[in-house]
Amino acid sequence: MAIASFILSALLLQFSLGCNALEIHKPKEDIDISLQVFFKVCDLYKGKNMPLYFASNADSTPTHLLSREVADSIPFSSSKLPYLLKYFQFSNTCPQAQAMETTLKQCELKPKGEEFQFCVTSLESMLDKTHEFFGSDKPKVLTTNILSSNHALYQNYTFVEKPLEMNASKVMACHTMAYPYLVYYCHGHKGHMNRAIKLMLGGENKEIIDSVAVCHMNTSLWDADHVAFRVLGGHPGSSPVCHFLPIDNLVWVA
Ligand SMILES: *[C@@H]1O[C@H](CO)[C@@H](O)[C@H](O)[C@H]1NC(C)=O
Ligand SMILES: *[C@@H]1O[C@H](CO)[C@@H](O)[C@H](O)[C@H]1NC(C)=O
Ligand SMILES: *[C@@H]1O[C@H](CO)[C@@H](O)[C@H](O)[C@H]1NC(C)=O
Repeated sequence: MAIASFILSALLLQFSLGCNALEIHKPKEDIDISLQVFFKVCDLYKGKNMPLYFASNADSTPTHLLSREVADSIPFSSSKLPYLLKYFQFSNTCPQAQAMETTLKQCELKPKGEEFQFCVTSLESMLDKTHEFFGSDKPKVLTTNILSSNHALYQNYTFVEKPLEMNASKVMACHTMAYPYLVYYCHGHKGHMNRAIKLMLGGENKEIIDSVAVCHMNTSLWDADHVAFRVLGGHPGSSPVCHFLPIDNLVWVA
């Protein structure tokens, strides 16, 4: 497995260098600018202006899923954490070790209510799981794309076009997780519980972001301490919560 170990050392190097992604998992007392991604359904109109944060973490996140052969050769379980830390040569106390533990625990959570959730570590498992979720409906994938170089991470953006709502009966979002190789945490709902929206955003210096956002229409099963409620106010079930997706995340719609 010489090729596998080469791929892993390359990915591991990226993980060790890039700590940006880790910050997002450690909310601070004050509202972190990286949380400026949430908004309300009533904000969805052309001309809306709001400060938003779009990380451009192309340098710190691995960009390709492993093949199943490689992914299956490495355990993916919090019970194997001591072995994994040795394998990736992280000490128990380094931030990467904590990030790995957080990711593994998140991936082991049981879905709440009728939510569908899973983590994928390989391209083949991504395809299998999306097929399981969408069945015979052919899903389409949406991503946020920054259409200009040198954009400022945090600035005021204007919704320059009328928000385009995808009328999708099933929506599934996949978020990249902090881990030595690419892991997506995906979750979705069947039956119009989440709305997927395409939004063209204009920055202050003519930057353009072709973005995708999701509105969660029923938050009644969310944790009361979810960061979205700190940013927008409200409490579980009080009102829908919308958020933009970072550039390396995927939204699948039926
Ligand atoms: C956005 O615009 C407002 C009002 O002009 C300004 O006070 C604020 O500092 C701006 N925010 C950013 C992140 O540039
Ligand atoms: C969305 O799709 C459903 C089912 O295909 C349809 O009944 C409904 O009218 C559509 N809604 C809008 C706003 O297009
Ligand atoms: C929201 O979800 C909860 C729990 O699944 C359910 O009891 C409630 O009826 C839902 N609310 C709406 C408006 O659909």
